[in-house]
Amino acid sequence: MYRIESKIDTKSAEFKQHQEEFQKILEEYRKIRRDVINGSSPRAIEKHKKRGKLLARERINLLIDPNTPFLELSTMAAYGEYENQFPSAGIVTGIGVIQGKESIIIANDATVKGGTYIKETIKKHVRAQEIAMENHLPCVYMVDSGGVFLPEQANVFPDRFDFGRFFYNQARMSAAGIPQIAIVMGSCTAGGAYVPAMSDETIIVKDQGTIFIGGPPLVKAATGEEVTAEELGGAEVHTSISGVADHLANDDRHAVQICRNIFENLEHKAKQELDIKEAEEPYYDPKELYGLAPIDLKKPVDSHEIIARMVDGSRFQEFKAKYAPTIVTGFAHIMGLPIGIIASNGVLFSETALKGAHFVELCSKRNIPILFLQNITGFIVGKEYEHKGIARDGAKFVHAVANANVPKFTVVFGGSFGAGNYAMAGRAYDPRLLFMWPNAKISVMGGEQAAGVLIQVKEEQLKARGQEMDPAEIEKLRKNILDKYEYEGSAYYSTSKMWDDGIIDPVDTRKVIAMGIAASLNKPYEKTEYGIFRM
Ligand code: COA
Repeated sequence: MYRIESKIDTKSAEFKQHQEEFQKILEEYRKIRRDVINGSSPRAIEKHKKRGKLLARERINLLIDPNTPFLELSTMAAYGEYENQFPSAGIVTGIGVIQGKESIIIANDATVKGGTYIKETIKKHVRAQEIAMENHLPCVYMVDSGGVFLPEQANVFPDRFDFGRFFYNQARMSAAGIPQIAIVMGSCTAGGAYVPAMSDETIIVKDQGTIFIGGPPLVKAATGEEVTAEELGGAEVHTSISGVADHLANDDRHAVQICRNIFENLEHKAKQELDIKEAEEPYYDPKELYGLAPIDLKKPVDSHEIIARMVDGSRFQEFKAKYAPTIVTGFAHIMGLPIGIIASNGVLFSETALKGAHFVELCSKRNIPILFLQNITGFIVGKEYEHKGIARDGAKFVHAVANANVPKFTVVFGGSFGAGNYAMAGRAYDPRLLFMWPNAKISVMGGEQAAGVLIQVKEEQLKARGQEMDPAEIEKLRKNILDKYEYEGSAYYSTSKMWDDGIIDPVDTRKVIAMGIAASLNKPYEKTEYGIFRM
C-alpha cells in the first residue's frame, strides 16, 4: 500500500491560524465535557459517598480490566436541556473490556435526581442495548435508580422504545446467548425491579441494594402495611428468601469482583476473522488534524489529508483515484484492523454515487468494515443533473449502504447536510457507531439555503395575493432562520438529542473506530444481499 503524500505545509501561517482557531473549539469542548462529568450537585455526591457508595464512573473503572480504555457513549446527552439538571442524562453507558471480553456497561448515576429516567436516559439505555445486540456484547447493568422521573412519565413510560423496551431487550438478548448481568448497588424500584429480575445472574449489595415493585410508601398507601425498605426488598431478603438475586456482596468493590468472577465463566464464542496486522502509528501526526478540521464549511478540505492522519503508516490503497474525485474510496488499516474508507471530498454527482456504491459492494464481498468520513453538502442540483438521473444514481448508493451487512462506522468531520447524510451512513442507516467532531454541523440543508428557500416561498405566496414582502421583514425572517439553524445544527445540539454516540476529539478517532471494529468481531458478519438497483 502506498503512503499518502501530504500536500499541506504545516509551517504556513494559514495552517497555524487554523490550528489556533481549532484550539478554541477544542477548549470549549473539553470544558463542556468536564462540566458535564462533574455536573452533579456537591450535596448529592456527599450524600452518596457517605453511604459508602462509589460514583458511577468509579464503579465502571473498577469493573473493566486494568489499563484498558472505556469508550463512553453520549456523555453530553441532554446537555443544555432541563436547566442542565441531568448531566449525561443521569446514566453512564459505554463499551469496556471485562476479563478480555468487550462488554456494554450501563450504570445509573444516583447523584442525578436519584438516578431517575427522563427521555434521554431511556434513549441512552436502549441505544447501549442496541449496540450490545448488534455486536453480541455481554451487558452489565449497575443499577442505582428511582425508576421513572415522575414529572416526565408521558415521555418515558408508554412508547415502543420507552422504559418497557429495556426488559424486552434483556429477554431477547438472553435468548440469543448474550449474557445479562445486573449489580444492584442502590434503589431498584417499580419497573426498574425488572432489570435484575430479567438478568441471567444478579448481584446485590448489602445494606444498599433494594428491589421492589412498590416501595414502602406505596405499600402503606395501598395496604396499610408498615415495612422498612430493607425488610421489603433488601439484599438479605432477595438472596435468602425471594431468590430475586443470586449473589450477596458486602459493598460496591466486592460486588464488582463477583461480577468479574462471573465473566470468567461465560461461554467462549467464535469471532469474526479479519486480516489483522501489527498496529502502527500514522506517518503524519494526528494532531495535525487540528489544522485541517473544517471550521468554515465553505472552504474545501482534501480528505486524503484527513485519512493520512488517521490510518496506520498513513498508507491507503485508493480505489478509482482519478474517477469521480468528490468522493475518496480505498482500503487501509486502523490500529492493525482492516477498514474500507469512504470520505466526502465535495458534492455528490451521479458518478460519485456509482463509485461509492461499487466500493460498498467490494467491502461487503470481502467482509471489510466501512468507515464513512462525512463532510457533505449533499447531491448536486440543477436541470442537467436531474435529466442525467442524479436521483436514480444517488438511490443506488443509498441502497448499497442500507443493505451492506458489514459493520459501518460514521464520523462527521465537517458538515452533514441533506441526502448526503443518508448516502454517507447517517444515523438512519444503522452505523454501528456514529461520532461527531466538535466543529461538525448537521442539518437538512445549510442555514443560508434554508433561509433562501423559505423567503422565496413566502414571496411567492404574497405575490399570488398581489402583495410584496417588506425588505425589513425579509431580513428579520432570514436572521431568525440563520440563528435557528446555527443553534440546531451544532454538534452539541446533535449530541444532546443523541443523533450520534458522542463528540470526540479528532485525535481520538483512530482509537474509537478501532474499538468499534474490535467489538464488531464478537458477532460473525452476516452475508449481504442487495435488492433491486434502479438501472
Ligand atoms: N421522580 C422524580 N424525582 C425523583 C424521583 C422520581 N421517581 N425519585 C427521586 N427523585 C428526586 C428527588 O425529588 C430529589 O430531587 P432534588 O435533588 O431536586 O431534591 C432527587 O431525586 C434525589 O432524591 P432523594 O430522595 O433525596 O435521594 P435518595 O438517594 O435519598 O433516594 C430514591 C433516592 C430513588 C431511593 C428515592 O428518592 C425514592 O425512593 N424515589 C421514589 C422512587 C419511586 O417510587 N419510583 C417510582 C417510579 S415508577
